[in-house]
Amino acid sequence: MRTIMPTDGFRESMLAGLTRRPRAVPCKYLYDAEGSALFERITELEEYYPTRTEIGLLTDQGGEIAQVVGAGARVVEFGAGSMRKTRLLLAALEAPAAYVPIDVAREPLLLAARRIAQVHPAMAVAPMVADFNHPLVLPPDADGDGPVLGFFPGSTIGNMMPGDARDFLRRVAKLVGPGGRLLVGVDLTKDPHVLETAYDDSQGVTTAFIRNLLARANRELEADFDIRAFDHRAWWNAREGRVEIHLVASRRQAVSVAGRLFAFRRGDTLHVEDCYKYTVEQFRWLARLGGFVPEHVWIDSAQLFSLHMLRRG
Ligand code: AVJ
Repeated sequence: MRTIMPTDGFRESMLAGLTRRPRAVPCKYLYDAEGSALFERITELEEYYPTRTEIGLLTDQGGEIAQVVGAGARVVEFGAGSMRKTRLLLAALEAPAAYVPIDVAREPLLLAARRIAQVHPAMAVAPMVADFNHPLVLPPDADGDGPVLGFFPGSTIGNMMPGDARDFLRRVAKLVGPGGRLLVGVDLTKDPHVLETAYDDSQGVTTAFIRNLLARANRELEADFDIRAFDHRAWWNAREGRVEIHLVASRRQAVSVAGRLFAFRRGDTLHVEDCYKYTVEQFRWLARLGGFVPEHVWIDSAQLFSLHMLRRG
C-alpha cells in the first residue's frame, strides 16, 4: 500500500531545486510541524536576538502604536504562527474590532485563533487558511469601518528577495485599503559576526532546523538523505545584504528523492534560506516602492531590530 501525502508543492520544489544550479529550495518548506517546533526553540536561544527584541518593542511601545492606529482596528496578520506577538499588539490596541490571521497550517491556526477569541470576546476572529503570497481579500466577518492594520512581525519579510517583498507590500497595500496601515518587523543590518552567530548557534538548534528540510524529504518524499552528511553554513553576503543559509555536502554521495537519483560532490551546496537585513532608510525606500508611506519607526536601544508603521500612500 502506498500512502499519498499532501506535499503543498514540496515534492515538485525539491526535485526542481536539486536539479537547478545553484541548487536551491524555497525556505517555506522548512516549516512543517517538526520545523515549526525547532524554530520555536531557536527563538529562545541567547544568540537569536530578533524574537525577544521585537517582543520588547511591542511591549514597550504598545501605547504609541495604539495611538497611531486608533480605536476599532481590524488587524490582519500574515503568517500567524503562535500569535505570541499578536497577543501583545491586540492587548495594546484600543478595542480592536476584528482579527484575521492568515496561515497555511490549518489546525495550529484554528487552535491559536480560538484562544485569542476567548481573550477578546467582543472582537470578530476570522482565521483564513491561505498562502499570503497569493492575492488576498478580507473575509466578510471582518467587514466594518475601523481602520485596517496589517501585521507582519518576525522579519519574515527578510526571507523575500527585495523585488518579491515590494510585490508583497503592493498586495498588502491593496488589501488594507485607503487609510490602512502595515506594522512590519524588520531586522537591522549589523555586525556580521552577530548576524552569523544568530543563524549558527552553539547548541546546534539552527543546524537541526535547517537539516529538517532533508529529514522532511526522507519522511514525505521517500528520500534517503544521510542528514549528518550535510553541514549547515550561514554567512553574511554583504553585496546582497543578506545572511545566506546553505547545506553543504561533507562527502561525495548519491541521494534518491522520489525515485530520482541526485549526485553530490564534497562541498556542493543546497541554498535553503536568505535573511535580508535592512537599514531604516533602505526599508523606507522599499516601503515606498511597495505603495506605502513610512509613518513611524520604533527601534530598541541596542539598534538590533526595527518595527515600521507604514501608511498606505
Ligand atoms: C522566521 C524567517 C524570521 O529569518 O530570522 C531563523 C527564520 N532561519 N533561523 C529568520 C530563521 C534560521 C527566521 N524567520
